[in-house]
Formats: sequence, C-alpha cells, structure tokens
Amino acid sequence: MSEIQAPRLREQDLTGKVAVVTGATRGIGRAIALQLASRGCSILGTCSGPDSLILIDSLAHTVSNLYSGHTSPPKVTGVAANIKDPDCAQKIAQALERKFDGHVDILVNNAAHPIRAKIGEIEPQLVSEVITANIQTPIMVVNEFVKRKMFRKGSRIVNIGSDSARASIPGLPGRSLYTMFKSALEGLSRAWADELGANPDLEFMKGTTANTVAVGFTETDLVSKMPPAMREAVNQNVLAKQSLGPRAALPEDVADIVGFLCGPDSRWVTGSVVSADGGFVKIL
Ligand SMILES: NC(=O)c1ccc[n+]([C@@H]2O[C@H](COP(=O)([O-])OP(=O)(O)OC[C@H]3O[C@@H](n4cnc5c(N)ncnc54)[C@H](OP(=O)(O)O)[C@@H]3O)[C@@H](O)[C@H]2O)c1
Repeated sequence: MSEIQAPRLREQDLTGKVAVVTGATRGIGRAIALQLASRGCSILGTCSGPDSLILIDSLAHTVSNLYSGHTSPPKVTGVAANIKDPDCAQKIAQALERKFDGHVDILVNNAAHPIRAKIGEIEPQLVSEVITANIQTPIMVVNEFVKRKMFRKGSRIVNIGSDSARASIPGLPGRSLYTMFKSALEGLSRAWADELGANPDLEFMKGTTANTVAVGFTETDLVSKMPPAMREAVNQNVLAKQSLGPRAALPEDVADIVGFLCGPDSRWVTGSVVSADGGFVKIL
C-alpha cells in the first residue's frame, strides 16, 4: 500500500535556494520539483519545447496554492530547453541569469531521451542522438554552470539514473543504449564529486556534492505505453524481486530520496549511487 501524502508544506530548509530540474513537467521530475518547492526552494523547470511550458505553469499554480497566505513563496518558472539541442546548456544558463540572478544551488539531471533499440538494428546516427541528449547535455550543463560561476557553496548535483545500469532484467530487450547513458551518469557523478567538492580553483562552490539515484520501475507516462509482454516481464523480473513488495514506485517515492540528496543533511554523501527501487538492486 502506498503511503504517499497529498502535496504539503515541509520544513523550509531550502528557503532562498534555486534548483534547476530538467524534465519538470511530468512524472519523476515534476515530483522532485514539487518536493523541493515545498521546502522553500525556487525552481527553474525545463521541458522539451514551448508547448509543455503550460505544465510548468500548472506546477507553479500548485506551489502557489501550497503557500497561500505566505509572504515570500518560492518562485517556480519554466524554460523550454530540449536536451537533444546542442545549445541546451546555454539556454538553461541564460534563463537562470534572466530569472534568478544567475545563481543555482541544486541541479537535478532528470530529463532523458530514452530509446529502446534492439542490437542488429542500431544506426550510428541513433547512438549519436542518444549520447548528445543524455550524456553531452548533462556534461555541458555542469560545465556551463561552473564556467559562469553559477553554483554556490554546498551545491547539490543529482543525476537520475536507473536500475537498468545495474541489473540484468530478462524480457526487456533493446536496453543497450539506455544502459549506456545511465551508466555514464553514474561515472559522471563520481568524477564531478572529485573535481568539484574541494577544488581550490572552485572555492565559490566548495562543498558541492554529486550523486546518482538509481531509479526502479516507477509509474509514469514513460512506462504507461509499455507493451503488455514487457509489462509482464517487469512484474515477474523486477517488481516481484523488490524487498518492499511487488508494486511500482510512485514518482513521489523517488522524489523524497532525491530530496534528501538535495538538502543540507546530505552534506557528507558524494560520488554515491543511491537506489530508489524498493530494494530491487542492493548497492553494497
Ligand atoms: N519511470 C521509470 O520507471 C523510470 C525508471 C528508471 C529511471 N527513470 C528515469 O527517470 C527520469 C524521468 O522519467 P519519467 O518516468 O518521469 O518520464 P516522463 O514521465 O516521461 O517525463 C519525462 C520528462 O522529461 C522531459 N523530456 C522528455 N524528453 C525531453 C527532451 N528531449 N528535452 C527536454 N526534456 C525532455 C519531459 O518534458 P515534456 O513534457 O516537454 O515532454 C518530462 O518533463 C528519466 O531520466 C528516466 O530515464 C524512470
């Protein structure tokens, strides 16, 4: 049984902070944005194109209702920044400059361009597209924020990874490209942890952490159109093996774990991979 509660105000431990959450319109990204905003954090949410901005307006409306009667609620705003575009990082940085004085405290690399492609049917162009969207863009976003000195002391970077990078899951063919980029995100968070946490050349962002959350099967639009045979494979080979029982996660289950890694209490966790999957993959 789920114990998810309706959106509610939480301890205001992120007041004055600014978070960039990529892919904040729906699913896990929206839940993360709402989790952070309910703690006082202002949000720049990204989406794939201008048509989706209305969903970020709707999120802003939900947050504004949560804070009704409060004098200084967090600001929630959006920018269309498609991760497939090579200038995605600049678009996000420019939006931060326009809307938030050019500072950022939290970056959640959540948006993905997930492609399922069977071995034997993969074209080089497809591999390039997947690498650009899912590896190059997160690298360039972090690079841009460092170059422009946008991160502040004690910033948080969280990559949204996947169990797919760690588990063998029979019955789900075509996962090689997805597994590639989710594995890369884990490696990147380790490299960023080392390079950004206590670098004397980057004193302005001292104490910054970088972690990956390895997400398990979660009920979102992404998985709702899965063919029935694959869904059955998930039931048998994933959900049935979760220590906490055979249910799909809700986006909020994942968002609360990401929320911990974004907050002050996670100051001594960096370079880690944390599972958000009810115990399907146990990281030792
Ligand atoms: N659901 C799962 O079972 C599961 C499991 C493991 C990992 N994950 C990971 O969790 C993350 C979120 O997945 P989800 O299930 O929440 O997906 P979702 O419900 O489909 O939401 C995807 C979000 O990403 C945005 N997005 C998609 N393509 C984009 C693009 N090209 N450029 C910019 N933004 C784009 C979407 O914006 P628009 O509204 O504009 O399209 C939307 O906000 C992904 O990294 C995914 O790989 C999910």
